[in-house]
Amino acid sequence: MTEHWTPASWRAKPAKHLPTDYPDLAELTRVEQTLRGMPPLVFAGEARRLKSLLGDVAEGRAFLLQGGDCAESFKEFHADNIRDTFRLILQMAVVLTFAGGKPVVKVGRMAGQFAKPRSSPVETIDGVELPSYRGDNINSMEFDAVGRTPDPQRLLQAYGQSAATLNLLRAFAGGGYADLYNIHRWTLGFVADSPQGAKYRELSEKISEALTFMAAIGVTPESQPDLHRVEFFTSHEALLLGFEEAMTRVDSTSGEWYDTSAHLVWIGERTRQLDGAHIEYFRGIRNPIGVKVGPTMEPDDLLRLIDVLNPKNEPGRLTLYGRFGHDKIADRLPRLLQATKKSGRSVVWAIDPMHGNTLTAANGYKTRPFDRILSEVKSFVEIAKAEGVHPGGVHLEMTGQNVTECLGGARALTEGDLADRYHTHCDPRLNGEQALELAFLVAEKLKEERVAAALRAAV
Ligand code: TRP
Ligand code: MN
Repeated sequence: MTEHWTPASWRAKPAKHLPTDYPDLAELTRVEQTLRGMPPLVFAGEARRLKSLLGDVAEGRAFLLQGGDCAESFKEFHADNIRDTFRLILQMAVVLTFAGGKPVVKVGRMAGQFAKPRSSPVETIDGVELPSYRGDNINSMEFDAVGRTPDPQRLLQAYGQSAATLNLLRAFAGGGYADLYNIHRWTLGFVADSPQGAKYRELSEKISEALTFMAAIGVTPESQPDLHRVEFFTSHEALLLGFEEAMTRVDSTSGEWYDTSAHLVWIGERTRQLDGAHIEYFRGIRNPIGVKVGPTMEPDDLLRLIDVLNPKNEPGRLTLYGRFGHDKIADRLPRLLQATKKSGRSVVWAIDPMHGNTLTAANGYKTRPFDRILSEVKSFVEIAKAEGVHPGGVHLEMTGQNVTECLGGARALTEGDLADRYHTHCDPRLNGEQALELAFLVAEKLKEERVAAALRAAV
């Protein structure tokens, strides 16, 4: 692994989950060439800033909140969707900041989250077999031969959609929408009448009071611009290496390579082979990066992976997202936490409670029970605490839309409800209400932590 790295050196390694059935490879090459000439979506300095904030998370001084669609789509691309997910993240961030008493690093699974690894390369419906849907930047959900054929032009459309999404996110983050004085206005319509809505109103009352007090003593958005804006970052699974390669640029200020398609990119559970193309690509970029860590990961393999991806042991460079399943986490996580802690590897440990808790309902819908999602998050915080490791964050598949994709939650969605508003292009997402409920429950856990730490400090 000490071999020379270039943005294209992954091409000599075995690659999983990359489409190989483009009918016209010359067209793909032309599109990638066009992308090489497009402006970067993010600036290297922003990626370094996120790395430094994640360094605070690695050292226990902050908490990571990362969330968004399982897969973005061309069809659901709309300003309202972007705004609704963004404001849900703001609400959750308020809840978590208040409870944990620590800054929350806000990262959207947005503006580039298109490509999906699939468990089977083909899908069969009524005896017809076609290639699986791989994400809107590759092919279409439409179940016909044309739709399922990979089309390079989709990469350009995905680039354009990512640029427009990021533009709106930047406007919301810095242009006043995220001003803490707007705290009452972020509640989504359908959440307002729920128990979570009421709890949120109560909390925002307290914060407003604190803000009034602070204004009286001279702390205002004019003197303290951070009250008026948030730092917001983007992320996606960098699965489609041809696209990521085309977006990889040398940063003129440091002379180092950055993937400019997002601030943070991660490697999925299915593409993290040590000798594979994805690890090869990731080791050479300087962005903060993540790796999904599932139930088959052994401590030795994890340490080898860390050595390749973070050889300088840089805090904030590497985030590990555990995704074991509510019934496996207690068995699998402790030894991994012990391994990173004992060997002094600086990583962010976060939890993805979505991907180990997926099941198929009797009526055929792919879904996730809310109580299992919650149970995995709670176990994560408790296990981390027992091992003396900071439970650094959560990674969620969620949407600001009022969908019915995950079972349970305060409104107790049942299997019969799933058909009502099941809109996901891939995996089931928490809706706004369920996501806020999860934030409150995580907040309770973080608050216990904070109070226990204060007590320890007092004696
Ligand atoms: N900028 C601070 C932060 O991000 C305070 C802040 C402003 C904030 N708007 C916010 C916090 C919205 C959470 C949500 O922490
Ligand atoms: Mn998913």
